[in-house]
Amino acid sequence: MNGAIFYASKYGSTREYAQWIAEATGLSAYDVDASSADPSEFDFLVLGSPVIYYRVIFSEWVQHHLDVLMTKSIVLFTVSGAPAGAKLDGWIADSLPAALTSKMHHFALRGRQIRKDLTWYDWTMLTVAGLTNPDRQAAREERQGFDYMDRNSIQPVVDLIKDLQAADAQGQQDHL
Ligand SMILES: Cc1cc2nc3c(=O)[nH]c(=O)nc-3n(C[C@H](O)[C@H](O)[C@H](O)COP(=O)(O)O)c2cc1C
Repeated sequence: MNGAIFYASKYGSTREYAQWIAEATGLSAYDVDASSADPSEFDFLVLGSPVIYYRVIFSEWVQHHLDVLMTKSIVLFTVSGAPAGAKLDGWIADSLPAALTSKMHHFALRGRQIRKDLTWYDWTMLTVAGLTNPDRQAAREERQGFDYMDRNSIQPVVDLIKDLQAADAQGQQDHL
């Protein structure tokens, strides 16, 4: 099956995951903010976004291509400080259309936040959040940064993509 990765990234960690997934699967990876690649040309789509201020950052791109996305198999990977769980699921539900989230597979990968790389605005916002967040672990991460990047964590995403590729190869053979 002919698929592609479409991702957005603010500080580079989602880009790095997209590149690792591309290397492991042979799919091309397109930055939605820098490429005009057309998602309608592919049979399935792997979408990747970080969570920044409780939202994915490519909502506008998703909205723009929603009609096309609704006709495809969709694999979403998010990159966040928070681990997989109800909090993250809530943020995804709040920032993507329900019609899409109900039909896609979601994988939660954990990213990185390097204090010295942050814009002044983000540094200030995260410092304030780190002083007021009642979740002590999250508060420490907001104040001090973290690096949970893990190449091995892409494996479940890669496995599902390989299933989609195999299903299509079978479909094409049946068609001959
Ligand atoms: C300004 C800012 C806001 C963030 N907000 C959240 C958040 O709401 N929830 C969360 O789990 N992680 C949050 N993070 C952590 C990011 O998801 C993490 O740093 C991710 O790796 C960033 O991806 P990127 O490098 O592709 O931009 C935030 C990070 C930054 C810099």
